[in-house]
Amino acid sequence: MKDDMKIYWNLYFNKFSNDKIMKQKHNPLREYVAEIIDGPIIDIGCGQSALLLEFSGSEKFIYAIDNEQEQLDYLSKRLLNQPKFTITNWSFLKLNFPDEAIPQNIYSLIILSNILHFFSLQKCKEIIKDITNYTTSGSLIYIEVHSDKFYANNPENPENNLYYKHYFNVDDLNNIFIEIEFERIYLAEIEKKDSIEDKTFVSDWLDEVIRLCDVPVNEINNLKKNYLKDKSQSDLIAIFKKK
Ligand SMILES: C[S@@+](CC[C@H](N)C(=O)[O-])C[C@H]1O[C@@H](n2cnc3c(N)ncnc32)[C@H](O)[C@@H]1O
Repeated sequence: MKDDMKIYWNLYFNKFSNDKIMKQKHNPLREYVAEIIDGPIIDIGCGQSALLLEFSGSEKFIYAIDNEQEQLDYLSKRLLNQPKFTITNWSFLKLNFPDEAIPQNIYSLIILSNILHFFSLQKCKEIIKDITNYTTSGSLIYIEVHSDKFYANNPENPENNLYYKHYFNVDDLNNIFIEIEFERIYLAEIEKKDSIEDKTFVSDWLDEVIRLCDVPVNEINNLKKNYLKDKSQSDLIAIFKKK
């Protein structure tokens, strides 16, 4: 992880309580909890997963997967503050997905929240095809991705897909989840302007980056201008159910 992201996640951990991040997360899984079938849950690229925090009292076996140990440590510290948390049914695995295979199981729920946009559309197709082998009838797959309306998406820019490899539309999701195998049971497009709180957080983060990383002032001013401008976050959230 680059130093600026280390600082970002550390600040996120210290500034935002579990309650805050759970309330802030648009979480349609709550509506389907009662119909989650038997079998473990896995969150791939979990970070400090607000979605997993809501399963802290669950008796299911839960795998939290991330390629950064710091993020797994932050998540486990957050879980220790959750009521009814029992560590015995949790596994925190540092793993570089999809190059390293996830544990061989049939999962009841697979969470891919804010991770697929780091892969090309073709790679996402391969990932979902492969992940289908870890599901059975009734398994749910939760997807959250940046949409093509996300503020950073500019197809005219030759460097558009250097960081985020793909910005999704609904057809992309329908194409990677083949209709004969999956039913889409939930879809939402969230468009939102950053709140003052969001902007304050980003400003504090950049101040920390300046303080700790010795970034030239003009570079940081550009970063601030870019990050703090009035921009529109835009994400697609979908839940697919294996037929
Ligand atoms: C943007 S955060 C999303 C965190 C969380 N899923 C959420 O939606 O709030 C992306 C997370 O995925 C992890 N990550 C990125 N690439 C990964 C990979 N190839 N394998 C596993 N984890 C990855 C990052 O370390 C980071 O914690």
